[in-house]
Parts: sequence; structure tokens; C-alpha cells
Amino acid sequence: EAHFASGGELRYCNVVITAGPTRERIDPVRYISNDSSGKMGYALAEAAVSMGAQVTLISGPVSLPRPSGVKVVNVEGALEMHAAALAAVQAGADIFISAAAVADYRPVTTADQKMKKSAEQLQIALTRNPDILADVAAAPNAPFTVGFAAETQKVEEYARGKLERKNINLIIANDVSRKDIGFNSDDNEVSLISRDEVIPIAKQSKQALAGQLMSQIVRQYQKTQST
Ligand code: CTP
Ligand code: CA
Repeated sequence: EAHFASGGELRYCNVVITAGPTRERIDPVRYISNDSSGKMGYALAEAAVSMGAQVTLISGPVSLPRPSGVKVVNVEGALEMHAAALAAVQAGADIFISAAAVADYRPVTTADQKMKKSAEQLQIALTRNPDILADVAAAPNAPFTVGFAAETQKVEEYARGKLERKNINLIIANDVSRKDIGFNSDDNEVSLISRDEVIPIAKQSKQALAGQLMSQIVRQYQKTQST
């Protein structure tokens, strides 16, 4: 498909997207991570490019082809993703979409050498990672902020809680207890929640969903721009 960077609804707009999992190092050959494929964030990046945006994709380790027309920043750990996201926002962003499955915790220390086994039980002390999305929303010159809420229960209630706590503009709620959608699937079904609207988006391929989601995100973003 052709992308025309000079046209479209998002012409002159800088869109920053995080995608994929993060890897939290235990030692040089081991890490804590999660099952995020990165597909949703990558599809959103392509949709934003096709709408004419300048897109920065901050990506954790995924096995997806690099989307064309996108500036990709590859990162591993949550701390690295946090720094890259705040730098991209400081450089000027209009819309920030947090599609990454950021590890909530990282090991307190990372061993320099491969760890050797000895005791029957091993405990790894973990510490909380910073909340990238909340920190972007609290930054000076904060862009329009969009989060995802992956929930296995009370999906809308928990999603709304995140909208409030992180002080963001939109949250896309996602039921990850369903095996037919979300995480490692090609399909997804979500609802988009703002302070005064809930917009359900029917089950479809992540590629197709990304187009609809970007259109809705742009609609909500444009509402905040008109005075
Ligand atoms: N997020 C983030 N940085 C983190 C954790 C989450 O930017 N350290 C973002 C995710 O990219 C997502 C949103 O916050 O857009 C919600 O992530 P989620 O894991 O559902 O929420 P948490 O705030 O981590 O709460 P919990 O895992 O306890 O439900
Ligand atoms: Ca989390």
C-alpha cells in the first residue's frame, strides 16, 4: 500500500507509540518478560503513517518486520523505554499511544555474569518500574495520551480507574481472559473509553482494528484542539 506523508488527517502531527513487551534482565542470558507480540502497536504505527503522521515507534523486543516510514527506537527494559518515551515527548509529540506491555517489576540487581545454581530455592527481589504513560501525561507539554488496559475481570471498571489514576485522555479496554482475542492473537475486540464516552469496537483483525482505533483517537484528539 502507498503512504502519502504529505496528506491525510494527521499531517504535521507527531505520534509516539510504545509497543511490545519489555525485558527485565536477571543476568546476561535470562530475563523476565511477557507474551506481548507487539502487533497492536505496530499496526497502529502503520495506520498513523497512512494518515500522514510523523511516527516514532518505541519498541521492545518483537519479531515483526520494521514498518516503513516510521522512526523505530529499539529498547529492552522498562527503564530504557521510559527514557526513550520521555525524550520523544520532550522533542515534541501531539499524540502518545502506550501500546507496550511494560513489565510492572524488574530485578533489583542484574548479575554481571551468568548465575550458577546452588540452593533448592531461589528468590529474586523485584522493584516497581516507573509508569511510562503516567509520567508522559504528567510531563510539561504533555501530548494527548492514550493507554491500553489489559484486564481479565471487571474490564471497564478497572480501565476507568486507570484513565483517572494515570490522568490520560483515552483508554482502550481489552479483555485478555478471552483466548480468541488480545495478546498473542491476530484478532482483537476493544472498547475505547474517554471521560464522557464509551465506544465499542467489534472483533476484527488487529490490522483493521488499528485503522478504526486511529480514526477514533484522532477524532477525540481533535476535540481537544478546537477552541
Ligand atoms: N504502562 C506504562 N508503564 C508501566 C505500566 C503500564 O506505560 N510501567 C501503560 C501500558 O502501556 C498501558 C497502561 O499503562 O497503556 C495500562 O497498563 P496495565 O498493565 O494494564 O496497567 P498497570 O497500571 O500496570 O496496572 P496493573 O498491571 O496493576 O493492572
Ligand atoms: Ca501492568
